[in-house]
Amino acid sequence: MSHPRCSCLLLLGAALLSLPAFAATPPHARPWLNASLTPDRRAAALVKAMTQDEKFRLIRSDYGSNLDDSGPQPPGGRHNAAFIPAMPRLGLPAIEETDAGMGVALQHAWGDGATALPSGLATAASFDPQIAEQGGAMIGSEAHRMGFNVLLAGGLDLVRDPRNGRNFEYAGEDPLLAGTMVGAAVRGIESQHVVSTIKHYALNDQETNRNAISAELDHTAARESDLLAFQIAIAEGKPGAVMCSYNRVDGEYACENDWLLNQVLKRDWKYPGFVMSDWGAVHSSAKAALAGLDQESAGNAFDKQVYFDQPLRAAVKSGEVPQARIDDMVYRIARSLFAAGVVDHPARQAPIDFAADARVSQRAAEAGAVLLRNHGALLPLSPKTVSIAVIGAHADKGVTTGGGSSAVVPRGGNAVPGLVPAIWPGPRIYQRSAPLAAIGRRVDGRVEYASGDDIAAAAKLAATSSVAVVFVQQWTAESFDVPTMALPGNQDALVSAIARVNPHTVVVLETNGPVSMPWLNHVDSVMEAWYPGANGGEAIARLLFGEVAPSGHLPVTWPRDDGQLPRPTIPGAGLAAIGIPPQGTPAASVDYNIEGADVGYRWFQRQHLAPLYPFGFGLTYTHFRYGTPRVAMRDGQVVMQVRVTNTGAREGVALPQLYVTPPGARTRRLAGWRRVELKPGQSRTVQITANPLRLAHYDTATHGWRRDAGSYRFQLGRSAADMIGEATLQLPAADGASHYRVGPRRAPGDVLDR
Ligand code: BGC
Repeated sequence: MSHPRCSCLLLLGAALLSLPAFAATPPHARPWLNASLTPDRRAAALVKAMTQDEKFRLIRSDYGSNLDDSGPQPPGGRHNAAFIPAMPRLGLPAIEETDAGMGVALQHAWGDGATALPSGLATAASFDPQIAEQGGAMIGSEAHRMGFNVLLAGGLDLVRDPRNGRNFEYAGEDPLLAGTMVGAAVRGIESQHVVSTIKHYALNDQETNRNAISAELDHTAARESDLLAFQIAIAEGKPGAVMCSYNRVDGEYACENDWLLNQVLKRDWKYPGFVMSDWGAVHSSAKAALAGLDQESAGNAFDKQVYFDQPLRAAVKSGEVPQARIDDMVYRIARSLFAAGVVDHPARQAPIDFAADARVSQRAAEAGAVLLRNHGALLPLSPKTVSIAVIGAHADKGVTTGGGSSAVVPRGGNAVPGLVPAIWPGPRIYQRSAPLAAIGRRVDGRVEYASGDDIAAAAKLAATSSVAVVFVQQWTAESFDVPTMALPGNQDALVSAIARVNPHTVVVLETNGPVSMPWLNHVDSVMEAWYPGANGGEAIARLLFGEVAPSGHLPVTWPRDDGQLPRPTIPGAGLAAIGIPPQGTPAASVDYNIEGADVGYRWFQRQHLAPLYPFGFGLTYTHFRYGTPRVAMRDGQVVMQVRVTNTGAREGVALPQLYVTPPGARTRRLAGWRRVELKPGQSRTVQITANPLRLAHYDTATHGWRRDAGSYRFQLGRSAADMIGEATLQLPAADGASHYRVGPRRAPGDVLDR
């Protein structure tokens, strides 16, 4: 809409009048605005120039919405998770924060949606840091172009239990994989002049009773598992902020836990950014401040009181908290803003190429889907298939997302509105990418849909179709866990009924993660599509028809049943609103010492348990042959070389994985991997560098990593449970720090010949 000329002039005049007088301040008077200085020098200069009130304004944010989400918004708020008003005197823009790791989650009613990436587990399943980084850059750019400069992304709690309702926001059970992938995503976000968090620090590995539960884990085991994931991701991605979690660790709230914040994060890892609280995770002022918390998030709406205003000012006055601690908080926040370019490249509304962004999401969904079973090579489907019955999971409308603060509303709105729960942690959101239409576009024959609510009707359709593709779903969300791995509702009965009448049944899973599959042996093919994001329907169809080869591998172990897990139940898990009433009373603590650092596949190996599908497992439409692996020390690094050949008739991506068992260790660990694309008949020699931290153990006495002298077993695996070659190396002792190099960065030399 164009304005009449006179209105434009009026608007211009008003804008000029509202320009603050100090806009003309010469640059040298505000050296922190000088982009040629380092973030540290700029932060130091800013702290020096700030008044105490300005400092106290920067160490707490406000909820960006009025408390019941209705009526006029607080000035500066954008219906968002949190904001801090601009400080024009200092040239600082408003801080506008929004969720989350799969895209800009417009939890409230403004704007017209954003582009959803597939779930964190899907991206992790690609084992491809470039996919993660491109996804991060895409959502970071959308955030920036919507006027946000802090993205509450970087979900990284390890998957210790497939029933954790929030696993879909995370990156799996292995610290090296999760840390590498989330680090890459954070790097992508920060490349767009948006500060990214990494969260939830730490051991927030279940949702039930999350605001009070104490996670118990031996400190050495923590360093070698959950904390290692954070250590790697921080080194890889350099997030501006770390979000401390709701739960307690060893009885102390994470956001006032001196060990987690001061000792591990800031002293040992030398983390230069700031610690922001989760929403409602602050319980004290002086204690939290002294333990290392730097910013209280939306305390006005979520904490008992705003601890980082009057109570903390009083603590400074009384000398309980030194002024230097306040200055350090401000310094850290400012440093992160400068480092990301938040001040030099202000976030503001700008056009977004949603079609291009959806393609980024689609590539991630395609790279992350895991083909679990393909009996009789039913997949890929032929476009000449006479008839296909598409059944279940609202596949006629779209694909599901997980719930809670991370749920991304698509442009055009929720594809399946009106499902329960209508309120938190709902509403359930579906992306507008219908598998039915995408499948229909690919076959000349008949493609028909049955909802699956009426099992007999669905079976009737399946019985008269040449192939049945059954979609099943498991909606989980922030704030609750599921009590069992069972699919909800009548879906197991539905799949069994379809499999009985149609011998060519494909099951596509849209789940948080591993679910039990009692019907597994009666269906031909199973593909885990996770929550597949903005173009999920299209991605699934391309995979089913072989337009792109499945290449995802499990970032989590797929147990046979709950009985194989370290803890048979999560007391209190469930959500009545979705027909799964909480079972039992929530516990006050959760004992992670049962498995310790042996999370996931390491637990299964230690207990001599065979999972349904191991970590690292994934099929495709071709086969690979591996030569004899050779392991050698090169420039202080252990490197495995192996020749891989595509022996099938289609192109595909092999994922040789390197596992190491250090001397005396009970279990092997992933030390590296390589994605290698191969045409039919093609061979390549690839090399995989072992991450030095996986060869070392954490030494509490020296607060560092040490590699012992001894005999190290290196194994080449197709998964964590399928070893196809090995070699042993004698290694001298080494100080872990001097070998510190994180992440199997893609190096051009790593594929030796083509
Ligand atoms: C979640 C965070 C989220 C925050 C802001 C909390 O409930 O745990 O992950 O970033 O809300 O919405």
